[in-house]
Parts: sequence; C-alpha cells; structure tokens
Amino acid sequence: MKTPAILGGESAFREPLHVGKPNLPEKKTLCNYLDRIFNSRWLTNNGPLVIEFREKLEEFLQVKYCIPICNGTIALELAERALCFEDEVILPSFTFVATPHSLQWQRIRPVFADVGNDDVNVDPASIKTLLSSRTKGIIGVHVYGYPCDYSKINKIASESNVKVLYDAAHAFGCEVDGIPYAQLGDASIFSFHATKFFHSFEGGAIATNDEALAEEVRLMSNFGFAGGVLDQVDYLGINGKMTEISAAMGLAMLDSVEEIREKNRQNFELYKEVFAEIEGANLIEPPSSMTKQNWQYVVARMDENRFGLSRDMTVQALRAENIFARRYFYPGCHRMHPYRELYPSASNILPNTERLSEQVISFPTGQVINEEVISRIADCLCDISDNADQIRHKVE
Ligand SMILES: Cc1ncc(COP(=O)(O)O)c(C=O)c1O
Repeated sequence: MKTPAILGGESAFREPLHVGKPNLPEKKTLCNYLDRIFNSRWLTNNGPLVIEFREKLEEFLQVKYCIPICNGTIALELAERALCFEDEVILPSFTFVATPHSLQWQRIRPVFADVGNDDVNVDPASIKTLLSSRTKGIIGVHVYGYPCDYSKINKIASESNVKVLYDAAHAFGCEVDGIPYAQLGDASIFSFHATKFFHSFEGGAIATNDEALAEEVRLMSNFGFAGGVLDQVDYLGINGKMTEISAAMGLAMLDSVEEIREKNRQNFELYKEVFAEIEGANLIEPPSSMTKQNWQYVVARMDENRFGLSRDMTVQALRAENIFARRYFYPGCHRMHPYRELYPSASNILPNTERLSEQVISFPTGQVINEEVISRIADCLCDISDNADQIRHKVE
C-alpha cells in the first residue's frame, strides 16, 4: 500500500499513461506498402491501395459493399444523406459528439433517446416514445463495441418506414448472434481514427449490402464523378476520399488485427481479475450475445457509495498517479453545445444517460499495456479507495 500521489505520495507512473495510445502494425509491412506508393506515385483518387483495402474490408467485415472514407464523421454524413435522413433523426445522447454533429451539420435535428437502465446502449422503448411524423431515420450506436438491440430497433424502423444507420465506430470486427455488425442495418459506418483498435491514421468506411446505396455513396464521396471520368459529374458530391497512405496503414493493420484483438482480450481478462477485488469498480462486460469482440474499451462503472469517492474525484486522483483514465462519454451530448442551448430540458427525459455518464471511467489498453501496468493501476485504485475520506477533504 502506498500513499496516493494526490495526498503527497510518489506517482505510480513516471510517464503519463493515456487511453487510446495507438496500436501499430509491423513497420516492415507498412514500409512495403509505402514502397508501392513511392513506385507508383499514386497518392490519392481511388488508387490501387484503396482498392485493395476496400476488397479486404468487404471480406473482413463480411459485407457486400464497403467504401473507404477519409474519416468516420464524413462517413456518417454521407451515409445519412444517402439514406435520405432529414427533418428529425433519433439517436442516443450517450455517444461521441460526432454522431449528433453529423446530423446538425446538415441541418437535421438530432432527437436524443435514453440508454437502457443498466445498459450503455440506446433503449428501443425510448426510441419509440420519440417517434413522430418528422422522424426520418434512426441511428443506433454500438457503444464500446457492444451491440444495440438491433432486432427491436430494426423492427421499430420498419414499422415506422424509416431507415436505420448503425454507428459502429467502436465495433470493428465484432459479431452478435453470429451476425457481423456490418449486416445489421441499412448501412453501418466505421471509424479508423488513430485511437481506435484498428486504424488507418485517420479514416472510416461505410458498409452496406445495398448496391444502389453503395453506388450513391461512392459518387457522393468523390464530387459525384462518374466512374473514373473526371469531366463527367452525375451527382452532388463532396471530397470524402481515403488517401493511399491511409489505405497503406489500414492494410498493414489488417495483418496485425487478430494479434491486437488477442492482446486486448488478455488485457480485458486481467482487468476483470483485478477489478473483481475492488469494491465499487464494476467492469462493463460484453453481453453473452456477442460472438466476436474486439475488447478495445475497458470501462468501469463506478459506484460512489461502495468505492468511497465520486467518479470525478477518482479520475483526479488517478491523474496525480499519471494515469489519464477518461470519462468516456461525459457529459451526454445533450449537455454539449449547441444541443444544451437547443434542448435545455433534454436531461429530464434522459435519466439513465445522466447517471451513466457520471459513473464511467475508461482505462488504457492495447499493445502498450501489460499485466504489470494493469496490476499497478489496480493497486492505485485500491489505495485511492482506502484513502477516500482524506482525498475528499483535500479536493473539496
Ligand atoms: C461513436 C463514434 N462515432 C463517430 C466517430 C467519429 O469518427 P472519426 O473520429 O473517424 O471522425 C467516433 C470517433 O471517435 C466515435 O467514437
């Protein structure tokens, strides 16, 4: 037992320990792809590496069409537009702000639904209460890679005659009930941001089994240019293309993805073991319906009464130890600009989101984390809990 750093003890880590430190592929594999870029001088505009990446993604995600995009946010915007989302779209508030921003940016009104009680994902019953004649779409977010209640959400959507988009930014390589996530809705988007377990520096993709939708997205993401012909524009489009360098990183990462998944799984198991001994730090575990996980988020729901300290004070005490655990997601998007001004009373109908966002702490995992680090993090949490009263007096 040591004195917590926030009370004057030495920090547990010399170097800051961050959530989302990027995983890396084999350098040699990436360099081989870089050689191809240098040899071809093809840097962007649907080059050979983007084509190869697209084909490998379709195979990996088990979906008919996958369009690589410059990032997950633009993928959301393009997919929403192709699905004719307008007016109002229902989505959870407990998500990264890119999800509502992608709607608001296109002057579509995001309507925030609550998560289920004791769940991190949107509650279909809450979606139902928000449906109106203005509802033109539903977005489900697979938070931390854990699946939304896709069968209920899809049923609500088809009964209301609206389309469903799944934000699978966290869910690369996951399956539920034996179904790959990319097959769950009318379309799904993925993010390949550097902090994601699988990435392409920056990047994203839109996945769908709908050929016409895929073609529309392809046109939209490249200024509406028809095929390879640069003077024929058949559609209103923007620039959402992925570059060759991103595709190179994505291809190299695909070679390491199973190794990284396994590393994440081992880390998760170790966290599970040590957190079981810490009263009030409840690890959020994947539901039994998940048949494939990526284990990329290690998130605990803190019970203040049992742990002895609020989530925010715990995060502060961890920072003093050089452990930069994150409040992910906090606050709910309904409390962020511009939504808090647009919907000042939204929190009244989002009680579960309010509670969840006050409780979650995300801990570091991935390639750079090992057993020793995890056990030191756990020791810090125990010391913080044991000294909760003193810490509270100090920071209050
Ligand atoms: C749930 C969710 N949706 C969308 C995005 C946006 O993806 P990107 O950062 O690639 O634009 C993120 C990114 O972190 C996310 O977590």
